[in-house]
Amino acid sequence: MKNKSTPHGLIEGTIVERINWTERLFSLKMKVNILPFKAGQFTKLALPTETGEWPRRAYSLVNAPHDELLEFLLVTVPDGELSPRLSTLQQGDSIYVGEDPAGFMTIDEIPDTARDLWMLSTGTAIGPFLSMLADPQSLTHFDHLVLVHAVRQETELVYRDRIAAIQKRLGPRFHYIPIVSRETVPYALTGRIPALLSSNALAEVCNVKLDPSHSFFLICGNPEMVRDSRKTLEEMGYRKHLRRQAGHFTSENYW
Ligand SMILES: Cc1cc2nc3c(=O)[nH]c(=O)nc-3n(C[C@H](O)[C@H](O)[C@H](O)COP(=O)(O)OP(=O)(O)OC[C@H]3O[C@@H](n4cnc5c(N)ncnc54)[C@H](O)[C@@H]3O)c2cc1C
Ligand SMILES: NC(=O)c1ccc[n+]([C@@H]2O[C@H](COP(=O)([O-])OP(=O)(O)OC[C@H]3O[C@@H](n4cnc5c(N)ncnc54)[C@H](OP(=O)(O)O)[C@@H]3O)[C@@H](O)[C@H]2O)c1
Repeated sequence: MKNKSTPHGLIEGTIVERINWTERLFSLKMKVNILPFKAGQFTKLALPTETGEWPRRAYSLVNAPHDELLEFLLVTVPDGELSPRLSTLQQGDSIYVGEDPAGFMTIDEIPDTARDLWMLSTGTAIGPFLSMLADPQSLTHFDHLVLVHAVRQETELVYRDRIAAIQKRLGPRFHYIPIVSRETVPYALTGRIPALLSSNALAEVCNVKLDPSHSFFLICGNPEMVRDSRKTLEEMGYRKHLRRQAGHFTSENYW
């Protein structure tokens, strides 16, 4: 719905469901009619302030493109301008959503030579990868799909049921590698993505060989993780992917 005071580019929607993962981590499902999007893209969320301003920020879509409800995974950033206000939303509340999703971290931007797709994420950046994995049509040409999710604590390993369903649907082609950096968890790796890449621990734990001839990496989340992972990959012989020159990795910083 669009009302008179809603700024250009935003549409009013309604929260249909809220999932609380931890005190600071939550998901919002909402009903709103925005333009179609591709798995991996993001749009804006906004709420008006008491003084009539409309701060808006980018959030990745977690749902598959064909789903009726839009879904987002959010973390409350202490002292942030918008996320603490989004964190108070409950079922039935209004939210304002960017009409036109954007972003180039999508399956159709990956070169045809890629046979194994490595999805490297920290925190809430697992979201766009869950959207891709929920869209089975787009993934048929990959031999292996590796979802790496790095968090500080075990409780932040979200969407375990959905990941189990993906595992069931995709079978041995799919590999989920949780990393917990500030606790020891028996089924998860400990440490950080760049070091676990260069030590070959990621490749060993899922038994998928890293090889510049057919490995492709999508890297998303904490900008320091993105920077360090890109640097590590370059040291290992991989190159940034450009439309005019096929390479091995694409990345998206969350801040
Ligand atoms: C393309 C894109 C997609 C994004 N998708 C998501 C998403 O799906 N879910 C989500 O929660 N956020 C996402 N973000 C971040 C989001 O846009 C906001 O920056 C975040 O909610 C903080 O907004 P704020 O107004 O509360 O904080 P601000 O007052 O704007 O403070 C920003 C600071 O918060 C920290 N920060 C911002 N985002 C995160 C984060 N996700 N995790 C940890 N620390 C963070 C950083 O220190 C940053 O400098 C995305 C950002 C981009 C650019
Ligand atoms: N998660 C919490 O319990 C917590 C508590 C209070 C405040 N916050 C605030 O909440 C926001 C979100 O926190 P978050 O925990 O979701 O996200 P985060 O700080 O980005 O941490 C997510 C994962 O990314 C890793 N990481 C950080 N820098 C890296 C680098 N250079 N290379 C590789 N990996 C790296 C972290 O490992 P390391 O653990 O090794 O850093 C962690 O495993 C931040 O603003 C944070 O300050 C979080």
